[in-house]
Amino acid sequence: MPATTEANPGPAIDGARLLGRLRRLAEIGADERGGVTRLGFSPEDLRGRDYVAEEAARAGLSARVDAAGNLIVRGPRRDGRPVLMMGSHLDTVRHGGPLDGAYGVLAGLEVLQQLAPRETAMEPVLVAFANEEGARFPCPFYGSLAVTGRLDRGPDEIADERGVTLREALRACGGDPEALESARWRPGSIAAYLELHIEQGPHLETTGTTIGVVGGIVGRTVLDIEVRGQAGHAGTTPMKARADALAAAARVVLEVERLAGDDGRCAVATVGRLSVEPGVTNVIPGLVRMTAELRDGDRERLRAAEEELARRLAAVEGSGVRVTAEVSDRIAPVPTDPVLCSVIAAEAGELGYSHCPIFSGAGHDAQIVAALAPIGMIFVPSRNGVSHVPEEFTADAELVAGARVLLAAAWRCARTAAPAWGRIR
Ligand code: GLV
Ligand code: MN
Ligand code: MN
Repeated sequence: MPATTEANPGPAIDGARLLGRLRRLAEIGADERGGVTRLGFSPEDLRGRDYVAEEAARAGLSARVDAAGNLIVRGPRRDGRPVLMMGSHLDTVRHGGPLDGAYGVLAGLEVLQQLAPRETAMEPVLVAFANEEGARFPCPFYGSLAVTGRLDRGPDEIADERGVTLREALRACGGDPEALESARWRPGSIAAYLELHIEQGPHLETTGTTIGVVGGIVGRTVLDIEVRGQAGHAGTTPMKARADALAAAARVVLEVERLAGDDGRCAVATVGRLSVEPGVTNVIPGLVRMTAELRDGDRERLRAAEEELARRLAAVEGSGVRVTAEVSDRIAPVPTDPVLCSVIAAEAGELGYSHCPIFSGAGHDAQIVAALAPIGMIFVPSRNGVSHVPEEFTADAELVAGARVLLAAAWRCARTAAPAWGRIR
């Protein structure tokens, strides 16, 4: 491995270039609320990917879209070295912020640009995973699930609210719904995976810490709940004769909140989507559809909370109201790799940044890739702890700090041959 000397310095982040790219990407999908809306596989998402692919090409890298719609960026040397993968996502929630996902992708691009021309034992590769949020097509982590060979639904079984199927969306972005299996990476091909992300919570800011070394990522269970009552005339149906689906749904919402809140059965629980039919002022609601999302860092607690919710939903039934629930997603909590954690902590320390262990309450592609490779994650502070809203913000100096730690950790890993993995400790 070539020594880094004064004449031959190690790689360094170009902070101005990274910040400039982040600002440019935030213009793609900029919405009327001052946020960013780049829903997975939307025209804005595709323009965002095009921008990253163009920047990669300008840097002498090449980008291609795999069958599942992931954008994969590589350097010119592909000689079978084990891969050091870096990644995150470009899609956003509706009215999200400029950094969730985009930061990890563009910092990864900057790191790849720095490392690709160098002699390394691992090949650095960047992936912008498709549809991490699942805000339009309800299949979060679609791209990373495809990479790990864990897709459990076909592209015709997934559609957006307008009935556009994922098959059509995949074709439009350059993917290939007939060849999804080809997006899979074989076990052993990824020596390590690193993801840089904003924290999206308050811990780093409140403790005045620059770098979070992520020790684990939360698990999530998502349910589709239907509350069926009886629609009827809002003026003539006596109160005692009603089966009001929305009144029952309100009790469901409170049960979900109580499950995590007062009762502490899981870390957090949210009803994030709710629709009422027929949705007319003078008609008693006959049908409510909603989602409930439960999260916890412990797989057993998450399972027990799901069972408890089923019991509570059954208790809401009665007087002509029926409640059904179906699990649409179960994503397990995962620990990150202790060796990668120690590399990240050591490099942050060497760069002079304060750092601390942290747990991720948000989901990340890293937790899916964990089925295939050791994962490491780096967090930087989020102002006021907010994310998934237009106000999402991290100071420039902290954005650059996170990228510098990603580069240092990736450089340390990439110089080390995979069989000698233990030596990077
Ligand atoms: C990912 O953005 C999540 O919802 O945690
Ligand atoms: Mn997100
Ligand atoms: Mn994210």
